[in-house]
Amino acid sequence: MILLGVNIDHCATLRQARYRQAEETAGGPVEPDPVPLALAAERAGADGITVHLREDRRHIQERDVWRLREAIGTRLNLEMACTPAMVEFALKLRPDSVCLVPENRQEVTTEGGLDVAGRRDAVQACSDTMASAGIKVSLFIDPDDAAIELAARIRAPWVELHTGAYANAFHGPRRAAEFQRLRLGAVRAHELGLTVNAGHGINYVNIAEVRTIPHLHELNIGHTIISRAVFTGIDEAVREMRRRMG
Ligand code: PXP
Repeated sequence: MILLGVNIDHCATLRQARYRQAEETAGGPVEPDPVPLALAAERAGADGITVHLREDRRHIQERDVWRLREAIGTRLNLEMACTPAMVEFALKLRPDSVCLVPENRQEVTTEGGLDVAGRRDAVQACSDTMASAGIKVSLFIDPDDAAIELAARIRAPWVELHTGAYANAFHGPRRAAEFQRLRLGAVRAHELGLTVNAGHGINYVNIAEVRTIPHLHELNIGHTIISRAVFTGIDEAVREMRRRMG
């Protein structure tokens, strides 16, 4: 069975759209609070909760992550940039896993995989520090042999294959080629002993094909689940994704 990590960043996006500083004056969480959302997602079958604490703090805030660490009963996966400040934060927080992602202040969302070759020393150091603290490390990479092979050399136990290019190509002529890239990437990563996760841009339609990628351990899915939850509630949104994941 493929596991489902629910990314709840966009619950916080909705909160920040209105209440940027309100928690200090309100004296407590303001709506919509990602913590009860995470708990409801777990009750509906999420196998883990994922958040991205971005440098610009555009959605998830540090206090959200601390409260989630206390409250959730599954696994906390922290997506983070490979920076000294985030490494220090993760060592204090001790999430169950971290997913190292590239970060660019101008982007609407994470646009490409980690440049493992260009940032090899930083990624290796970050990965080693996390491993020695007992925190599982995943590298968010494009499904290309060079990046996958480097991830194996860095000895990161997990990779998360970036499904964004495939999702963007879904209604166009490159869909089959992008899907094949993912399939081959998953096979290569598995051959090298890496645990294969995937995420970004997965939705209730493309999941029918995504779930056939070989060797998948976990999918991290956010925007589409939060979007559907606006209409159906988080419980039904998570259950429906689980059903479609098979
Ligand atoms: N995985 C990673 C590494 C991400 O950066 C994101 C987006 O924050 C996701 C998964 C979830 O992507 P989406 O919100 O498109 O489902």
